[in-house]
Amino acid sequence: MVTKDKSKGAERKEDATAEMLSLIDKRTKVEYEIPIENDTISAMTLRQIKVNEDDFGMMSYDPAFKNTASTKSTITYLDGEGGVLRYRGYPIEQLAKKSTFLETAYLILFGELPTQEQRDEWVDEITHHTFLHENLKSLMQAFRYDAHPMGMFVSSVAALSTFYPKAKDVMNPKSRLRQIKRLIAKVPTIAAFSYRHSKGLPYVLPDNDLSYSGNFLSMMYKMTEAKYEPNPVIERALDVLFILHADHEQNCSTSTMRAIGSSQADPYSSLAGAAAALSGPLHGGANAAVLKMLNEIGEAENVPEYVQRVKQDEFRLMGFGHRVYKNYDPRATIIKEIADQVFEVTGRNPQLDIALELERIALEDEYFVSRKLYPNVDFYSGIIYKALEIPTDMFPVMFAIGRTVGWLAQWQEMLGDPEQKIARPRQVYLGEDERDFIPIAKR
Ligand code: CMC
Repeated sequence: MVTKDKSKGAERKEDATAEMLSLIDKRTKVEYEIPIENDTISAMTLRQIKVNEDDFGMMSYDPAFKNTASTKSTITYLDGEGGVLRYRGYPIEQLAKKSTFLETAYLILFGELPTQEQRDEWVDEITHHTFLHENLKSLMQAFRYDAHPMGMFVSSVAALSTFYPKAKDVMNPKSRLRQIKRLIAKVPTIAAFSYRHSKGLPYVLPDNDLSYSGNFLSMMYKMTEAKYEPNPVIERALDVLFILHADHEQNCSTSTMRAIGSSQADPYSSLAGAAAALSGPLHGGANAAVLKMLNEIGEAENVPEYVQRVKQDEFRLMGFGHRVYKNYDPRATIIKEIADQVFEVTGRNPQLDIALELERIALEDEYFVSRKLYPNVDFYSGIIYKALEIPTDMFPVMFAIGRTVGWLAQWQEMLGDPEQKIARPRQVYLGEDERDFIPIAKR
């Protein structure tokens, strides 16, 4: 008996034998019965399909893992057709409205919302791990004055592994939890120091009286005042942005975290690799690319011409489209609301008008409609970051702060999963057959 996901409207099957896939190999005329579990077949069951005893067996070919589930997971549910995102069953809309980033982090990591006591202890623990070792600070100071903050972030996170050698004990749950707390606490400090470095400003030490987001704002913007007072609207907006970016199941950077972690590398090294994957323009770099695009467009009246050039395949509309969402990204809807609140404090950014016009025209255009291309999370997040005077180079770093939680939860889940082994895909070799070496004079 198999219960399928009711949200997809599938029916409950009473007959277990019905959950089989029959395959006939026309090369050999042999019929195979492949078990179906959770609407998937195990790729390893294909290996029995052979033309003769010496045959290696059938493999599936799936570049970019477009239709391959690499894991079972209980963390994030995503329905790309329906535009649904849930962490541990809780809709993203409810978490964005009612939760805080650290509470959501607890939920994502441990599976349940914390009690008051658990939440207080969790927040206290994170708050008291925010400082960086002075030597790491010196290491960061050694970067060139114009170093890209994402490069600084990736390198500094990797360097943390040398400060915590016990982190290599990845199969020890107590040690794992210690590293998880350290990483969630320290990534905002590394991020803010990277920003201050690029501005030539002194690094600001963490203020443990402030909230997670409030402290981050203080480390970013504190100048000569004795105490930095974050604006509550901005503080909350940032907290919600971190919630929205906290996890997104098996995306490029999370799969990288799992792949590196599967070799039992320490979490600092794995997370540095995940952050490197995030830095690309097709992933966490997309919000910076959106701003560049809005700058290029310049005025709302230039939007139709720009859209025309996208349709002629000159370039892509950044912040549009998603591998999984074939509907409006639910995070984009929430971000649009936050943008309004932020602009009441900072003043309206004229780029928002260009973005709105771009969205309006694209959503009416057959090219985008037929390809199910909708705004994704990054379409509006860059405009908010800009309103907060966060430089474009810092955008992927902002994304990384929130996503650190998801990377760690997925890493922890992978290590506890008895079905997981070191990640090692196969290939279809299409190169030369064996041939003899030719001396250089004869080539
Ligand atoms: N603008 C114009 N056309 C597009 C776009 C776009 N942004 N995205 C996809 N298409 C077209 C593409 O040309 C193709 O058309 P055709 O079938 O005629 O060849 C079709 O839509 C399918 O595209 P694809 O490349 O097969 O889709 P994918 O699932 O491999 O790519 C994507 C997903 C996110 C990389 C892509 O949509 C894209 O490049 N978007 C712009 C970058 C962006 O905003 N990235 C942020 C993603 S959300 C944050 C995150 O999770 O990192």
